[in-house]
Amino acid sequence: MARFEHHVFVCENVRPPESPRGCCSAKGSAEVRARLKDELEKRGQKGLVRANGAGCLDQCAFGVTMVVYPEQVWYGGVTVADVPEIVEALVAGKVIDRLRIPDTKLTGKAAAGGGGASGPSCGVSR
Ligand code: FES
Repeated sequence: MARFEHHVFVCENVRPPESPRGCCSAKGSAEVRARLKDELEKRGQKGLVRANGAGCLDQCAFGVTMVVYPEQVWYGGVTVADVPEIVEALVAGKVIDRLRIPDTKLTGKAAAGGGGASGPSCGVSR
């Protein structure tokens, strides 16, 4: 069984065009994930970082959304053009603030004690 250091879940949820919630698929999430896979391979991260397609991550207003685990770093409004920077930051153990969805805007409950990464660095180490 493969063991990865990080999983990047990219929402590829599809909703009908008339849905008021919209969906990440309509905003290009399949292309974002394809580019992510290419960029990870190009940078020698295949086998270390897994680019997973996901259903709705319940952050629809911020689509295209993705979340990096185990760091719990959420990115929103991601485009294909952002992917190289995201991979570079991941490898360097950094977070891209301009793409990060603030913890205060995420849906869902934080674990007791705050949960999730905070501050300028996600604490990724290689
Ligand atoms: S449709 Fe992508 S987060 Fe809900």
